[in-house]
Parts: sequence; structure tokens; C-alpha cells
Amino acid sequence: MWDQEYNKYLDLYGGHGVISIGHAHPVHTTKIKSQLDQIAFYSNAVQNPLQQELSDKLGQLSGCKDDYALFLCSTGAEANENAIKVASFYNKKSRVIAFENGFHGRTSAAVSVTDNKKIIAPVNAHNPVTILPLNDIDAVAIEIAKGDVSSVIIELIQGVGGLDQPTTAFMQALRKVTQENGVCLIADEVQSGYGRSGKFFAFQHHGIVPDIIPMAKGMGNGYPIGGVLIANHIAPWYGMLGTTFGGSHLACAAGIAVLDVLKEENLMVNVQEIEAYFRVAVSKIPGVKQVKGRGLMLGLEFDFEVGELRKKLIYNERIFTGGAMNKKLLRILPPLNVRKEDIDVFVNALQKTLD
Ligand SMILES: Cc1ncc(COP(=O)(O)O)c(C=O)c1O
Repeated sequence: MWDQEYNKYLDLYGGHGVISIGHAHPVHTTKIKSQLDQIAFYSNAVQNPLQQELSDKLGQLSGCKDDYALFLCSTGAEANENAIKVASFYNKKSRVIAFENGFHGRTSAAVSVTDNKKIIAPVNAHNPVTILPLNDIDAVAIEIAKGDVSSVIIELIQGVGGLDQPTTAFMQALRKVTQENGVCLIADEVQSGYGRSGKFFAFQHHGIVPDIIPMAKGMGNGYPIGGVLIANHIAPWYGMLGTTFGGSHLACAAGIAVLDVLKEENLMVNVQEIEAYFRVAVSKIPGVKQVKGRGLMLGLEFDFEVGELRKKLIYNERIFTGGAMNKKLLRILPPLNVRKEDIDVFVNALQKTLD
């Protein structure tokens, strides 16, 4: 990126992980421009063949093709809102279990399933929600046994919270206890999805299959688009969900371009290679206590708060990084086509700034 004085910046944060294929990727801009010349929007009252193309390509690349239906919307919060709603329609229950330090967006149901009291308005606080410690399967089982739980919502890699992850043993036990009790498992892949973890969805690292998969951030490379994959056994009735803007022609064009680039440029393999390269490179920096996260959703933990470090990186070294609720964590969410040379630039700048 360049500022108004034409200074060049390296963006390793992508506006909270939204920029998945890089700013101004030619496939993305060409596709959106040409769609704009045809039609930008019509409501879902008419069929839009681009939705089918997006759905087919998403299903194919993610491996979820035959098992889910796709609902398109515009943001991550909206995706989670609809996920929680679909689950409740399906099993006619209302309590939601979520986990400490999670974040799922700021609309009514989505904001109520966080333990960050600062962002919950009184009007959102009435939703029946239980927040439990991550990886505590006994606590989940006790709550589910009460019989009133509709869904469990979980980030497979916590984003805003600071990159903590459920273990595979926990995810498998969670899948079992939810399935056995008719509780929907919602895998919030808004940030961890779309190739960012090195697999299409982060739940795929754990050998489980969720009932509902909300997604958004990387989906449009900056054009607002979100989606919810809903397992076939849930079978939403026509009209259960709706939206005016979701799945517009322009949004679908952006989404199709991202999927085409992810596939053509083999970006999930790049994610795996760059993650390995990054981990080796930062292991040589003395101040780094640990590397958290997975794929290109990574965090460097220090034994001091990183606010000043981030400022120095942006103003002196012209590198964008991110923060988290954990103030000692420097977050890295680069585009999935980031190169080893870019990582070298970051590592040298970090070393220099810490010296
Ligand atoms: C895991 C997760 N879910 C949901 C959201 C909300 O997405 P949006 O800001 O698009 O509503 C976010 C945003 O940071 C997120 O990280």
C-alpha cells in the first residue's frame, strides 16, 4: 500500500484479515469492474446465476459441496446471527453456549455470545447464553445435559481474543456430545476460514464436521460478503432467512474472483509454506515468547504490551500489524499470497525495532 506521499507500506494485517488475495489483485478488480458494467444489484426476488456459481466453487474448494446449503449475507456478524437463528428454528431451543474470550460480531444474538460486557447493550443482554472456559468438555456436557441448549458456537482459532485454539480432543468430544443431544455445532470461520489456516476451514484440522459454518472476512477481499453453510439435515424452509443486499451480483463477482485466485494460485499450499518459514524466522528473535495461531493467522507473544512496538513498526518501518484483547500479542494476518521476501522484511524490521 502507498500513502498520500507515495511512501510504500507492507500490509501484514489486511484490515482485520479481510484482504485474502492482496490489494488490487488484477483478477479481483477486473471481475468487479466488468460486473459493474453489466448489473451491480438486484434483490433476491429474482434468480441470480452468480450465486449458483459462487456456491458451486465454494463447495468444491472447501470440500463441503454435497453436504450443505449456502445462505449469502454481507458481514460476519450477520452470518453468525443467522447461524444462531437457524439452529434455534431447527431444534426449537434457545440457549447458546460460547467460550471465554470469544468474539462473534456486534449484532443482537452475535454480541450476546461474548463475555466482553463492554460491547453488550442492555437490549442484547437478555439472550440466554452460557460462556464456558475453552477446552473444558465436562463443563459443556453438564450444560447440555440440562436439555435447553440450541447451539454451541466456537471460533476454531480465536481472532480478537488472541489466537487461542480448541484442542482436537476437545473438538471431537464437543462434536460427539452435541450430536448425541441434537445441539447444533456452529464453527465460526468468519476469520479462520477461506484458506487462512492452511486448510479451507480451520475445523478441517480436527477431523470433525460442524452443522453450521458462518464465514465472511476473506470471502470478498474487501467487498462486503458473508455466508452461512447449513448442513442438509437442517433443511431450512423457504423464507426462514432473508436479506436485501446479501448475494448481490457485485458481491458474488468479488467472491468468485477470490475463489478463482485461491484455486489458481494454490494459495492454501502457500499458507502452509509461509507459516513454516515464518515460524523458523521468528524463532531466532530473542524477545518472542511464543508463536500462537495457525496458518497465516498468527500472533507473536512478548512479555510486554505491544502498542508502542506496533506504532514503531508502522511509523518507522512502514509495516501494518494488528493487536488483540491480549495486549502482549502482535497479530499477523497477511494476504494468503504473501511471499518469503515479505516475511524477511518484517523479521528484519522487528529485530531492528526490538534492539
Ligand atoms: C470470529 C469472528 N466472528 C465474527 C466477526 C464479526 O464480523 P463482522 O465485523 O464482519 O461483523 C469477527 C470480526 O472480527 C470475527 O473475528
